[in-house]
Amino acid sequence: MEQIYFETERLIVRQWSFYDIPALFDIMSNDFVHTYAEDSAWDMEKTENYIRYMIDRDFKTLELFHGAVVLKGSNKIIGRTGLNPYKEKQPEIEWKLGVGYWGKGYATELGRAIIGKAFAATDISCIYGMAHPDNIASRKVLEKIGMECIGLHKFRNNEDMFYVIKKVN
Ligand SMILES: CC(C)(COP(=O)(O)OP(=O)(O)OC[C@H]1O[C@@H](n2cnc3c(N)ncnc32)[C@H](O)[C@@H]1OP(=O)(O)O)[C@@H](O)C(=O)NCCC(=O)NCCS
Repeated sequence: MEQIYFETERLIVRQWSFYDIPALFDIMSNDFVHTYAEDSAWDMEKTENYIRYMIDRDFKTLELFHGAVVLKGSNKIIGRTGLNPYKEKQPEIEWKLGVGYWGKGYATELGRAIIGKAFAATDISCIYGMAHPDNIASRKVLEKIGMECIGLHKFRNNEDMFYVIKKVN
């Protein structure tokens, strides 16, 4: 049984399994998911490598993790989310949801849960969010989950709009 990282009202975020490969491929092989990313549509090999890497990492806490986003009730995988390494104890939040699941408030629900639960259960000091300046949906979610916009900064090969939320002790 895969480890459950956390639950929200409508979603479960859990460890990846090799059985998830077709569902993740279905989501990540769609070009629209990558519109504002340097990435492009995934093939089956890239999907398998991603899942193998995430299983090998075997995340035990929310300090850094990546998991499958599962819709409660249907048990369907609708995307992936997690906290990526950015700076020491200051990770970056990420979501990628299947196109058919956009606009239903799922990213906002995930973001609020990650912030609340990761701050409560780990010693990370803040969480960053980076969005392509034209990625309005992503920027809106970062604002809705209480992050402060701190302007454009270089991130990987791009100038991204940066957001941050600090842990209040
Ligand atoms: C960005 C993403 C995660 C958002 O997920 P989501 O579940 O659709 O987000 P939510 O439904 O919680 O909120 C989206 C908000 O943006 C708004 N929005 C979406 N597109 C918009 C647009 N073009 N213009 C203005 N507002 C827009 C929605 O109306 C909603 O705001 P509201 O609740 O005030 O109405 C999802 O679109 C996605 O996976 N995109 C591809 C990958 C990506 O860009 N990831 C982010 C970077 S890691």
